[in-house]
Amino acid sequence: MPTTAAAALSIEALFSTDARAFVPSAIRALSPLINDPTVISFAAGVPNPETFPAGELSKACARVLADLPKRALQYDATAGYLPLRERVAARSVAKGIATSAAETLLTTGSQQGLDLVSRVLLDPGDVVLVEVPTYVGALVTLAGRRAQPVGVLRTAEGIDVDHLVATVARLRSEGRRVKALYTIPNFQNPAGTAMKKGAKDALAEACGRLRIAVLEDDPYGELLFDEGGGWDTTPLASRLPSATVYMGSFSKTLSAGFRVGWLHGPNELMAKAELAKQASDLCSSTFTHAVLDSYLGACDYEAHLAGLRGFYRERKEILLAALREHFPEGSRFTDPAGGLFSWGELPEGIDTKALLARCVAETRVAYVPGEPFVVEGDARRFLRVTFAKESPEKLVEGARRLGAFFRAERA
Ligand SMILES: Cc1ncc(COP(=O)(O)O)c(C=O)c1O
Repeated sequence: MPTTAAAALSIEALFSTDARAFVPSAIRALSPLINDPTVISFAAGVPNPETFPAGELSKACARVLADLPKRALQYDATAGYLPLRERVAARSVAKGIATSAAETLLTTGSQQGLDLVSRVLLDPGDVVLVEVPTYVGALVTLAGRRAQPVGVLRTAEGIDVDHLVATVARLRSEGRRVKALYTIPNFQNPAGTAMKKGAKDALAEACGRLRIAVLEDDPYGELLFDEGGGWDTTPLASRLPSATVYMGSFSKTLSAGFRVGWLHGPNELMAKAELAKQASDLCSSTFTHAVLDSYLGACDYEAHLAGLRGFYRERKEILLAALREHFPEGSRFTDPAGGLFSWGELPEGIDTKALLARCVAETRVAYVPGEPFVVEGDARRFLRVTFAKESPEKLVEGARRLGAFFRAERA
């Protein structure tokens, strides 16, 4: 039995200031509601499991265990398994990033990349500019550093550079330290939006001039399925290499469960990020790296990507057509040219957060309300939907039921 004194000690009294700032992701908190298998989910921000090349990955696992068990089952360098770093770096060089295997750090998903970079760059109180709306997982990471996200607006072509410049000037005149812009330039989560070339050029130029780092999160850049819109997926890192940290991921294209992402960035920053990773987990899974490397060596990844694009294009078209047909007049949805998400705006008077629980109970269809994605402004009328997870039939049925629900709310 613990003594009275021991029983009286509250472990919370010993928590660090950082730990007190940790917040759960508002989306993960909705998990029981939105991951119920009897619910049609437009909410889950996950790739469709049918797209995982399970057969090829299974063969790659067998090859790795047969051919290099001693290496693959061992610890590796903190930066990760060299042959995979070489492949990742070669693909990035082809996209215009001046990098090499030595300048590539394999991370446990791009989420870890963001956490490591945040630890290298951010002190409590530092300002990070973010798009409105932006990825909830990034806001969780920034909160863990006690950094302050401040919103920047968008135009139809990308981040509104004039607004960004004015915001930095205002914040600096208030004595605040603006360290970085966090952006998802390609087929953003949650809005599905992308950027045109001119807007990307201007953004990189402005960030260089303002001396702020660019944290470029790009898990969706390879999922461009509609070439016609003039969207430019070339990395900001190719334009502003001295101040951009590029975060990539295999989560949306091969397997989210493998948890393999990567970082490229200026050398000094990469060295610190590697030390931060060493302190955190020594290295990611050598076995997983070796399996991915073997898969990439034996299979036609480009053909796999082309198949994925067709898969998601078809689902996007089905869902958007059904949303347009069934949602109340005055509703608008973004029409993404890639990625997994569309961002909806509903007519005045609808509060997506307040309605979610009743909506799921009545319609058995789930969405994510807009509020957690937005650091400023009113997101009550907004919602994120994904076309990634459900079958075409369920996309149509889900849109029909959701649309009827919101139409009844308006009546
Ligand atoms: C914009 C964005 N960044 C990062 C992540 C995390 O990706 P990973 O699985 O590579 O950690 C996600 C996942 O949904 C995302 O949407």
